[in-house]
Amino acid sequence: MVVCILTREGGSGVSSLGVWFPQQGGAEDPLTVRESGPHGQPVRLALLGLGTVSAGVLQVLARNRAEIEHHVGGRIEVARILVRDTAKVRRVEVPSDLLTTDVNTILSDPRIAIVVELMGGVDRALSSIQAALLAGKAVVTANKDVMAEFDQEVWAAARKGGAPLYFEASVGGGVPVVRALAEGLAGNRIHRIAGILNGTTNFILSRMSAEGGSQAEALITAQLHGYAEADPSADLDGLDAARKISILSSIAYAAPCHPGQVYREGIRGITPADIEQAAHMGWTIKLLAISERAQNRVTMRVHPAFVPAQHPLAAVADAFNAVYIQGDPIGKMMLYGPGAGGEATASAVVADIVRAARWVRRGAVAPEGPVRTLVEFGSMDDVHSRFYLRLRIPDRVGVLGQIAGAFGRNGVSILSVLQTPAAGDSAELVIVTHQVREDRMQRAVVEVGTLNVVERVASVIRLAPEDL
Ligand SMILES: NC(=O)c1ccc[n+]([C@@H]2O[C@H](COP(=O)([O-])OP(=O)(O)OC[C@H]3O[C@@H](n4cnc5c(N)ncnc54)[C@H](OP(=O)(O)O)[C@@H]3O)[C@@H](O)[C@H]2O)c1
Repeated sequence: MVVCILTREGGSGVSSLGVWFPQQGGAEDPLTVRESGPHGQPVRLALLGLGTVSAGVLQVLARNRAEIEHHVGGRIEVARILVRDTAKVRRVEVPSDLLTTDVNTILSDPRIAIVVELMGGVDRALSSIQAALLAGKAVVTANKDVMAEFDQEVWAAARKGGAPLYFEASVGGGVPVVRALAEGLAGNRIHRIAGILNGTTNFILSRMSAEGGSQAEALITAQLHGYAEADPSADLDGLDAARKISILSSIAYAAPCHPGQVYREGIRGITPADIEQAAHMGWTIKLLAISERAQNRVTMRVHPAFVPAQHPLAAVADAFNAVYIQGDPIGKMMLYGPGAGGEATASAVVADIVRAARWVRRGAVAPEGPVRTLVEFGSMDDVHSRFYLRLRIPDRVGVLGQIAGAFGRNGVSILSVLQTPAAGDSAELVIVTHQVREDRMQRAVVEVGTLNVVERVASVIRLAPEDL
């Protein structure tokens, strides 16, 4: 049970929230907890939003209060919460006078040192983050849309306001990949990041693999479990993963990356037949977000890929996230964990709150933000991949020769061909190619599609890089 206690500071008339658990053998009175901020005061924060993640943050702050105070070296207090509707019934009980619909009561309050943006969306979130930073407040955000699309603007405000910005939860939910790349791996030259960064699509593909059934059925199950939004387009079309790989690439390569530079293909075209065929060939289909750096050229892409069943990424099931990193000197490593959900995401948000509170307590100078180096961005046309194609063809002599000819004219070399009977006089042809440049393959697919011996190009799916 979470118990929310309202404390009132003498004379100020301002309420603040101490969230705590009664302890066995006598509850600790939150009013008597030591005052321990830079001037004997708790570090005060405001939450913008009181939805899934904010509720998780309040629960984690209550449950792990002793650990958090230990890491901060003092007490943290939730002093204000911004919502749209103060009358709404909430998942966590909070004193009503902490709620406000006016962000300016937070931005203009000098007692509030940390603003935790958990509203989502872009316009209101961006303007609030910028205003908080310009007011010299530390900002914690889980907002991937803002951090992917507007990080330059946000960092400019941080520099101007002399305040720090933390955004661990914007990628990977509870998986601390932002900090791992920015600090734990800072001595590395990162060559490649290959991530399963979208829990919704991973849940759908895992479900299709484990239970059979269509993508539409798996989507409904994902929605029933709360893993998919009513409008799942940003997930299914790869936009969410594109934003996240752009954020990770910016950190890994210290480069000004943007989601618009990410080639993007979602999972809508993946059918049960492809999943079945993948399993038959010893592969699993995953939506991979890949970014690579060769010399000074960065290429980013999101697309479904066949991953060998024995690769660690193939074992990442359900709504879990994983980030597979290749660098010098680390070699290959993977971070894995829950990629969404209130409490899992709160794990990352609270870690950022602890960092922000330490900054407040020490009165330290804010980091200036990343120094960005100029890189070139490679085009998808230059990427080399192996491909899987599934074609519907008439079951008669000479068909294979014509298809092989079309591939050959475009410089595509075939690794294997498997023909199986299909309905009526048709057959299904599964072709796997050797590694080939993307633009050549796309030309070959167009030519094969126009052959009168091909009824339909049913699927074209890339294989994961050979050296992953
Ligand atoms: N949910 C996850 O698993 C997850 C994982 C990783 C990252 N994130 C990110 O975390 C952030 C929060 O996600 P969430 O799932 O917690 O969202 P949510 O459940 O939809 O909650 C959003 C909250 O923000 C408030 N809000 C929205 N717009 C507002 C506005 N203009 N003014 C005032 N309040 C406003 C809402 O107020 P009312 O309640 O009054 O409507 C609500 O309390 C998003 O950026 C999301 O992408 C979420």
